[in-house]
Amino acid sequence: MRRLQKTPPKTTRRPLSLSTEGADAYPLRLQKFLARAGLASRRGSEALISAGRVKVNGELVCELGRKIDPQKDEVRVDGRLVVPASDHCYLILNKPAGYLTTMADPQKRPVVRELVPVAEHPGLFPVGRLDFQTTGLLLFTTDGELAHRLLHPSRHVLKRYVARVEGQLSERQAASLRFGVLLDDGPTKPAELRIIDVHQNQANVITTVELAISEGRKRQVRRMLAHVGRPVISLNRISFGPLLLDDLASGTWRYLSDEEVSALRDKVRDKGDGTDRPIFCNKPDAECST
Ligand code: URA
Repeated sequence: MRRLQKTPPKTTRRPLSLSTEGADAYPLRLQKFLARAGLASRRGSEALISAGRVKVNGELVCELGRKIDPQKDEVRVDGRLVVPASDHCYLILNKPAGYLTTMADPQKRPVVRELVPVAEHPGLFPVGRLDFQTTGLLLFTTDGELAHRLLHPSRHVLKRYVARVEGQLSERQAASLRFGVLLDDGPTKPAELRIIDVHQNQANVITTVELAISEGRKRQVRRMLAHVGRPVISLNRISFGPLLLDDLASGTWRYLSDEEVSALRDKVRDKGDGTDRPIFCNKPDAECST
């Protein structure tokens, strides 16, 4: 089997680690610090400061010019301690076919670990899994709490796939996939589906569909399509929640931007009680709970 490029690709930006920011990164603007910690976008962080919700070392800060040293200063939003996005790493890989989503395989088959910078980021792991032959967007992080939330069924993180299937998918089959089909481990939740293309050559017909699901059951898309009599020929994940694969080359990875990390955190933030508790508040602190 052909092994794809293993050398780290060019990346669009450095990791979020404050320790790799370089000397000129300190002091850091307060709004940038808040955005990096995943609280909100840069603009949203500015709004928090202007609204008088941010304190630095116990002092209320309402003006935007303030700079802080993340290693020395204590920042609180609504009384809750903000933990810097210090050492966590977030990246996406465009997984090629023929790789296992695991960090090690006793049978020595190719594993995704070979394609991501594990030496630079100890503890890096994939968030969820793609089948051996499935290609596309696979998120990696060292942030266990965020990963746990993203994978939790209650968060309904939407995953979008493009599948090529055998035969022509009828409207009736499409409708039943949208509604939900009964698999051996229970009915599937409603899915989004659109037919992108129907291709006919001399021997057969191939339909290309885009399918979005919020569940993450084993081989779910393949089983759903097989259930309606349209076995998958190829499957590619093009998005995961707010993250888009776009034109990332197969076998290469890139770090997430601050905005992408914020968007991910936003997706899984507790909203039930209206307080939007920051999920980065993880220090022992009476005012801080997640
Ligand atoms: N559904 C599948 O069937 N396979 C994957 O890899 C992901 C979703």
